[in-house]
Amino acid sequence: MKKDKIFLIGFMGVGKTYLGKRVADKLALNYYDIDLEIEKRVELDVNQIFKEKGEDYFRKIENQILLQWDRSGIISTGGGIIQNSQNRKFLSDESNLVIWLNPSWKKVKSRIINSYRPLVLNRSVDELFELYESRIPYYEECADLQYNGSRVEALADLIKK
Ligand code: S3P
Repeated sequence: MKKDKIFLIGFMGVGKTYLGKRVADKLALNYYDIDLEIEKRVELDVNQIFKEKGEDYFRKIENQILLQWDRSGIISTGGGIIQNSQNRKFLSDESNLVIWLNPSWKKVKSRIINSYRPLVLNRSVDELFELYESRIPYYEECADLQYNGSRVEALADLIKK
């Protein structure tokens, strides 16, 4: 079966957007980002949504957008999309290719620690690590493949194969 929806999953800071855009260019595929789709629908950015409407509202829209997803290409997802069991079921459908970007915690930590993500702002490093660890089984559950590196070429080759 040709899998034409390629979802990139993984914790914040693993490179879903960075690698996703470049790999899509390289493979001449469309590129989408679920967070951007949420921002378009709500007409607020992710930080504003969390602040003004709360995380539950963000998760509701994230779930709606994912369950209606029918466009092919490379699709970056937000790090928490796998917390919802419906989302995990949708992603795990055999018509999708789901790639878990999973560099070391050390790398992830250094990339997110000073970022303005709503879930990073109020958390200590220990709390972030706890969140990271708690999500690992969910990424594992959904993923067809795992990629631990940061090379566009290598990820593009993995997808082509
Ligand atoms: C989230 C990750 C963010 C964004 C939102 C919630 C999370 O996306 O969806 O801030 O729960 O991990 P990135 O993984 O692209 O940072």
